[in-house]
Amino acid sequence: MAKDLSFTCSACGAAFSKWAGQCEACGSWNTIAQEGPLSTGPVGKTLGGKRGKGLPLTDLATEEPDPPRTEAGVEELDRVLGGGLVKASALLVGGDPGIGKSTLLLQAAARFARNGLKVIYISGEESVAQVQMRARRLGLEKSPVRLAAETNLRDILTTLETEKPDLAIIDSIQTMWADTVDSAPGSVSQVRASAHELTSFAKRKGMAVIMVGHVTKEGAIAGPRVVEHMVDTVLYFEGERGHQFRILRAVKNRFGPADEIGVFEMTGKGLAEVRNPSALFLSERGKPAPGSVVFAGIEGTRPMLCEIQALVAPSPTAQPRRSVVGWDGGRLAMILAVLEARCGVAFAGLDVYLNVAGGLKISEPAADLAVAAALVSAREDAALPPEAVVFGEISLSGALRPVVQTENRLKEAQKLGFTSAIMPQLAKKQASGGMELRQMSDLAGFVEAIFGPRGARE
Ligand code: TYD
Ligand code: MG
Repeated sequence: MAKDLSFTCSACGAAFSKWAGQCEACGSWNTIAQEGPLSTGPVGKTLGGKRGKGLPLTDLATEEPDPPRTEAGVEELDRVLGGGLVKASALLVGGDPGIGKSTLLLQAAARFARNGLKVIYISGEESVAQVQMRARRLGLEKSPVRLAAETNLRDILTTLETEKPDLAIIDSIQTMWADTVDSAPGSVSQVRASAHELTSFAKRKGMAVIMVGHVTKEGAIAGPRVVEHMVDTVLYFEGERGHQFRILRAVKNRFGPADEIGVFEMTGKGLAEVRNPSALFLSERGKPAPGSVVFAGIEGTRPMLCEIQALVAPSPTAQPRRSVVGWDGGRLAMILAVLEARCGVAFAGLDVYLNVAGGLKISEPAADLAVAAALVSAREDAALPPEAVVFGEISLSGALRPVVQTENRLKEAQKLGFTSAIMPQLAKKQASGGMELRQMSDLAGFVEAIFGPRGARE
């Protein structure tokens, strides 16, 4: 008889014939649980040798219109959703505890309700009174959003079945408890089962569901990445605690572009949308100073200028510090190495601090040149021309590579009053719209052109 592989690991999906504390395949602890007999039957004999029925196949073309969408009327949110909330879709909104997810979703719930959707908000973390107090503080107490505080998934689904809302908000998925699963709320199998039930319920009933998920220290939505695969759209709500900016980022979207962002500002009365983030991110900029560079970036489909700051100081220790906020530490090490190897600008014995102003997180390689410029500017104690923006990717050879959406970057820079761009050599001529384009082919040439020849600097 074939082995009964009814124990599976909820982290990696490996199947075992008996329970164990640690999964042999992926090393996770406490992830193995019995899943009931596998329906696929003995391994090697497909589906136990039984025949299913043939599937009707169709063309790719369809007469069906696109699924209906409802806009919140908040441009920053609608853009991230790809043009509004899609009927019968499942969304996951992740973010650190305390970052503002509940506030965002209560405000969104009120907006959708105002635009004609029947909205139910289920809080598993706060009492009804707490959510009502928040609603009052946000000035939303008159909104027709229906509210309950509950964690029992069976009761929640029954309520949704009778109430038939267009949108249900579940805050949070980690607090949900399905009585069919024999483990504590927040455990991987509970979260997975709850998310699966809610998602398939939403698809069956034509309801949209938004689930809140807390994020672990490592940045994954707590427990199972499987939830990310189940849903149509994954949004992350991010920002630095000490800053008032918050960014809603689409990391996956079956109904729109991924990597799209919406920018919000935290206020005493909740989140306010920020239509012109470049102006906001640059508003705190003081006088042009050594180590400060304006980077012309792109987030999703929208250009965004921000300030990159570097500080370089003699290190008191044998192991100089490399501290970076808002950018990738590995990428910083690479830029430092290229500056040293290709341009003769050494950082040995110096502490290096790099910061993206305003709590923004940048992942574009196009920021390489702006980072290098900030580092050299800080080290040489020489400010860059204040009217210039900088962008470009740096290769290990020290060559500068052109980046995508050059035109959009230039336009945004010009809109904010900048008159020149320091950037990689373009393959073909580009409409500059009156901007002075200082095109450079390699990093050494850039350092020399901006900070003077090497001999003069030493
Ligand atoms: P909350 O929405 O509860 O965060 P999360 O659900 O992600 O854990 O917000 C955390 C705190 O921040 C809460 O005390 C309210 C406060 N807050 C504001 O005062 N203004 C705002 O605009 C936001 C978003 C939050
Ligand atoms: Mg919350």
